[in-house]
Amino acid sequence: MSKQLLAQRVKGIEPSGIRKIFDRIPKAKNPINLTMGEPDFDVPDVIKESAYRAIRDGHNKYTPTQGIPPLREAIAEYLRDMGIPFEEVMVTAGVSGGLVLSALSLINPGDEVLIPDPYFVMYKYMVRLAGGTPVFLDTYPDFNLKADTLEKAITDRTKFLMLNSPGNPTSAVLSADELDQIAEVLQKHNLFVVSDEIYDRFIYDGRKHESIASRDVPTLILGGFSKTYAMTGWRLGFAAGPAWLITQMTVMQQYSFTSANSVAQYAALDAFSCDMSEQIASLEKRRNLIYKGLYDLGFKPPRPEGAFYTFTPVPPGDTSESFVERCIEKELFLIPGNAFSQRDTHFRISFAASEETLQRALLVLETLKP
Ligand SMILES: Cc1ncc(COP(=O)(O)O)c(C=O)c1O
Repeated sequence: MSKQLLAQRVKGIEPSGIRKIFDRIPKAKNPINLTMGEPDFDVPDVIKESAYRAIRDGHNKYTPTQGIPPLREAIAEYLRDMGIPFEEVMVTAGVSGGLVLSALSLINPGDEVLIPDPYFVMYKYMVRLAGGTPVFLDTYPDFNLKADTLEKAITDRTKFLMLNSPGNPTSAVLSADELDQIAEVLQKHNLFVVSDEIYDRFIYDGRKHESIASRDVPTLILGGFSKTYAMTGWRLGFAAGPAWLITQMTVMQQYSFTSANSVAQYAALDAFSCDMSEQIASLEKRRNLIYKGLYDLGFKPPRPEGAFYTFTPVPPGDTSESFVERCIEKELFLIPGNAFSQRDTHFRISFAASEETLQRALLVLETLKP
């Protein structure tokens, strides 16, 4: 008994490479922690107050499966303001919840799902759990998906393209031109897209977020509150797209998550009016610090255009894991690139950390530079 009871489908589903590093941090005396996949600012007070109020007012019960109507309306207005078309909106248990519901609703055994590599850790496993096959589209060295890479990977088994711009772990942002070219290929082959836009507010250098959905491509947009308002623990996100899909995802939510967290939904009614520009500007400042710091040391990071990561090649002779081991010996905690990629050549830094922490990290990296 015991392990033999486990289902076939979980074979080869391994703990994330991020968790493995996290678990070692408490053992360090004075760790420099650049592993975080979440902002280092706090949830705005107005959202916290609204959560306390929601609990006191008795909003502690199940909500409608698709989410409370005023929040669905607020999300719809947010998307409309950005010029993003969709038919229906539902509230999910984080973008993670939306990813699971979309995979269960869309993927048949044997279907291929195109995933630009590097990718967010969950994508390949959610495809496998649903019985599909992840097909990785290599985007090195600049991490922007090229139309010809996409076109070459399309077969008669391709079910959809997974997009994530701004991206984790690369912080790359697809340009308007790149989106146009990708859209052209998708239209030609009549392909669907699942677009994870969780970092839509984290874009630097005065640029604005653009969605593939605004290019007349059938799209499921996944968005959330975790990063923008630092509500990672509240488990709240949304999915917007064609009615046929959102309706089915809502049914799948009935039999899985039931609904998103009730208190978080009521609190999020006050989120869209929060001005997060100061927090984003502060991250942009730290982006500049770490990018220049790495560059001056002889590392060659592509310039992060959004999110809050750098994804940088390791020095010659190292794998991502051997380099991260050398960093951990000096109490610097980073994530090896092979947690996010079929390649084993880069390391991820999260710059959602204090300037002092970033400076300490650069001092360690100086001793390990190429
Ligand atoms: C690209 C991407 N998608 C989804 C998620 C998960 O988001 P949520 O907290 O809304 O489930 C993350 C979290 O790190 C992410 O980086």
